Amino acid sequence: MTNPTLASLEKRRSQYVLGADAPLAPAEIDALIRQAIRLAPSSFNSQSSRAVILFGDESRKMWDIARAALQAIVPADGFEATSTKLDSFAAGVGTVLFFEDQDVVAKLQADFALYADNFPVWSEQASGMAQLAVWTALADAGIGASLQHYNPLIDADVARTWNLPASWKLRAQMPFGAHKAGFGDKTFMDDADRFKTFG
Ligand SMILES: Cc1cc2nc3c(=O)[nH]c(=O)nc-3n(C[C@H](O)[C@H](O)[C@H](O)COP(=O)(O)O)c2cc1C
Repeated sequence: MTNPTLASLEKRRSQYVLGADAPLAPAEIDALIRQAIRLAPSSFNSQSSRAVILFGDESRKMWDIARAALQAIVPADGFEATSTKLDSFAAGVGTVLFFEDQDVVAKLQADFALYADNFPVWSEQASGMAQLAVWTALADAGIGASLQHYNPLIDADVARTWNLPASWKLRAQMPFGAHKAGFGDKTFMDDADRFKTFG
């Protein structure tokens, strides 16, 4: 089957070896990321996802924050590997920080009490959809990325550094840049254990 969406999804992989020479200019990447998040669905169209898009030195600042936070907790003999990994993220073009606005979640809970327990879950799901939309759009544009989770360790420093609203809860970090390595083969579990189709 040839399907452009499936072809795009297939292109999206975790790229850890990033370069600063992406095929698009920062303004074009910024527009791509914004549109991908705009188009991603959310419960009740609540649009709870927020993003901070960092380029160049601002992105490197993000990975310095992670480095300082990790240095405080990773044993000294394991820190070199951690630091090397952070270097690879900082070597890219930029980083997307994904947030969910907890004020939006709280308002939905107040307005639709029947679903109150669901809104935090749906907010997380909306974040995942926004993340996949951005990751896939970047992949389609020939830009590599990976998904990282240094939250909640870095939350306070991130909020302070970019002066972000207290209601923005950091959910993921996506460093992106030029592809500087290929990908290993990806294995897939048995369809029989994963899918059931009826009718
Ligand atoms: C919810 C979620 C959390 C993930 N967290 C991390 C992470 O913290 N660090 C990381 O390097 N990759 C993370 N990944 C990436 C997965 O490890 C990766 O997508 C998976 O191994 C499949 O490889 P692929 O992305 O190349 O298809 C995460 C993926 C998902 C969907």
